[in-house]
Amino acid sequence: MQRGRFITFEGGEGAGKSPQIRRLSERLRAIGIDPVVTREPGGSPGAEALRELLLGGAAKPFGPVAEAALFYAARDDHLEETIRPALASGRWVVCDRFSDSTRAYQGAAGGVDDTVLRALDRIVVAKTRPDLTIILDVPPEEGLKRAQARGRPTDRFEAEGLAFHERLREKFLAIAAR
Ligand code: TYD
Repeated sequence: MQRGRFITFEGGEGAGKSPQIRRLSERLRAIGIDPVVTREPGGSPGAEALRELLLGGAAKPFGPVAEAALFYAARDDHLEETIRPALASGRWVVCDRFSDSTRAYQGAAGGVDDTVLRALDRIVVAKTRPDLTIILDVPPEEGLKRAQARGRPTDRFEAEGLAFHERLREKFLAIAAR
């Protein structure tokens, strides 16, 4: 059985990942590939529980290193329970956010040292790296406006100031360039 392909979508708030993920999934289904569509933080029962903690802001007082460790704990569960079994059975996986989000949000914007994140990534993600990552770019003012127009309560990261979101954007553009 050939391993499935692993595709991730990345970007700041309101960059339009969800509609593009929907469109890609429809195009794949039209050519006979039924992808597993999933998201981070989340995508497995354990990771969804950690999502509540992270996006609700309960983990914020512990600081950005602890938050990064919790994102990786969620990623570990998601990989073990959802992503690796799907890829091993030949399914394609399309994931809304992955390691690049930790690099941008906790790393560039939150100040966690890149060597810490690289170490976590080596342990948790190991060989299960994406085959393709699509990074969507939008000016933060515009993205935050779009995110607010969705009418959902503002989460822990949306609530950060414009400077945070500018640093995020710079990092995503740097990752894309590399
Ligand atoms: P979500 O509601 O999925 O936001 P979006 O629609 O913007 O993707 O919330 C995910 C939030 O978690 C988002 O603000 C980015 C943040 N995040 C991190 O800070 N680090 C991470 O490693 C991941 C996966 C997400």
